[in-house]
Amino acid sequence: MLFDRVKSLDDILATAEKKSLHRSLGALQLTMLGIGAIIGTGIFVLTAAAAQKAGPGMMYSFVIAGFVCAVAALCYSELVAMAPVSGSAYTYTYAVMGELLAWTVGWALVLEYAVAASAVCVGWSGYVMGLVQKATGFALPELLSRGPSWSMNGFMPTVDFTHGIVNVPAIVVALVITLLLVKGTSESAKVNAVLVAVKVTALSAFIVITLPLINGENFTPMLPNGWLGTQGSGVGVVGAAASIFFAYVGFDAVSTAAEETKDPQRNVPIGLIGSLGICTVFYMLVAAGVVGSVGAQPITSAAGAVLSPDSAEFVARCAELTAQGNAPIVCSHEALAEVLSKLHYEQVSKLVGLAASIALPSVILMMIYGQTRIFFVMARDGLLPEKLADIHPEWKTPWLMTIVTGIFVAIAAAFFPVGQLADISNSGTLFAFFMVSIAVLVLRKTDPNRHRPFKTPMVWVVAPIAAAGTLFLFFSLPTVAQLVLPIWGSIGLVIYFLYSRKHSHVGKALAGK
Ligand code: ALA
Repeated sequence: MLFDRVKSLDDILATAEKKSLHRSLGALQLTMLGIGAIIGTGIFVLTAAAAQKAGPGMMYSFVIAGFVCAVAALCYSELVAMAPVSGSAYTYTYAVMGELLAWTVGWALVLEYAVAASAVCVGWSGYVMGLVQKATGFALPELLSRGPSWSMNGFMPTVDFTHGIVNVPAIVVALVITLLLVKGTSESAKVNAVLVAVKVTALSAFIVITLPLINGENFTPMLPNGWLGTQGSGVGVVGAAASIFFAYVGFDAVSTAAEETKDPQRNVPIGLIGSLGICTVFYMLVAAGVVGSVGAQPITSAAGAVLSPDSAEFVARCAELTAQGNAPIVCSHEALAEVLSKLHYEQVSKLVGLAASIALPSVILMMIYGQTRIFFVMARDGLLPEKLADIHPEWKTPWLMTIVTGIFVAIAAAFFPVGQLADISNSGTLFAFFMVSIAVLVLRKTDPNRHRPFKTPMVWVVAPIAAAGTLFLFFSLPTVAQLVLPIWGSIGLVIYFLYSRKHSHVGKALAGK
């Protein structure tokens, strides 16, 4: 009886039709929307962590993560083209595998969107602090501009406040964006296009400067930490791929706009795959530029042991090297700007810092907005209190839901380092992508005759590769990030059985209430 509650695709389409939004977006705007959501902290900041995990081999990490996203995007496209409605992976799972699994996906998407927003807040903080310091000489004390370091002692989390207590700038940006969203400032397509141009220009400048300076010696040793690292450590090429996966997250934001798209059956697949493809090319070139121009070898402990980039030991070692004026790129909070500084392109470095500071908040906005959209659909289905989805009479926004989300984002941003937030976000995203790749296959079996405007090519090969790829990356994450998903999922299940199952609209309809 647990898996009986399915909301059929036809019902989903009918609900969306009744409350349909104005369809105004075309293929180009969707692609821009995708790029706007994709390029962010991943490439601007986490490149340093990827280098610490994989050394120059991080170039392979970018390829692996991009490949898994590409096959997942092909699966997404089939479902979005068939049912261009809000709610993304949650909605498809509801239609194909029923309410219980849909709930777990919706719940996991909180990790994807809200925790990703926190990660981007922390990434932004690094860039803004770097920029302010370069421009004015003022530096906020380290203890107030970064969160503590977390590590696991067996199964016990331990926290170290030596180099950070709370990340104040990250809290500020989270709350300001929340306020904008509460007041109804949704980003217009025009503003998005400008910010995309800013990001793309910054990355292009980086590529143009660094590629000619590539020095072959910087590529040896290519794989200082090997391919796999040790299980659960999250290092090695594959560990770095699992983390840098974060850089590609966001292309599914295109699917959340499906209800607002003209000819969605054609335009959504173009937007999804187009934005992902363009970002992948940029990422490859940027990664080659970082590695080739200044080198990307990881630092080790005094005893020569591999250090995870979020460990207290790594932070302490970086502090030591920074004090000696000798910090390598892996220690940087503003990796791309730092590379340019090292190459003595000070002005361009500042401009890249400025570009990141201006453009990253739009990624935060997209993520918090996406989160409230998913909560909204879940509340519309009765799985969350409808009160939460209350629309403010004046601002016309789901204000309560936005505030709750914003506070959650600010707290996580205040007390966790960017790499760990990204890894946790990845665990939720990988789970959602996994479910999407399964859903495509199930639906091919259960509803083979439904019109499919976009068909995943070679679905019986591509979807299993997507499912296996997401699982593989999930199990390559550090242990803490892997553990968060089942713990978070268990909390979700308690809420489901105590509240959502009783209030579900589909459940009530089945019971004839
Ligand atoms: N892909 C987005 C970023 O890197 C989430 O910031």
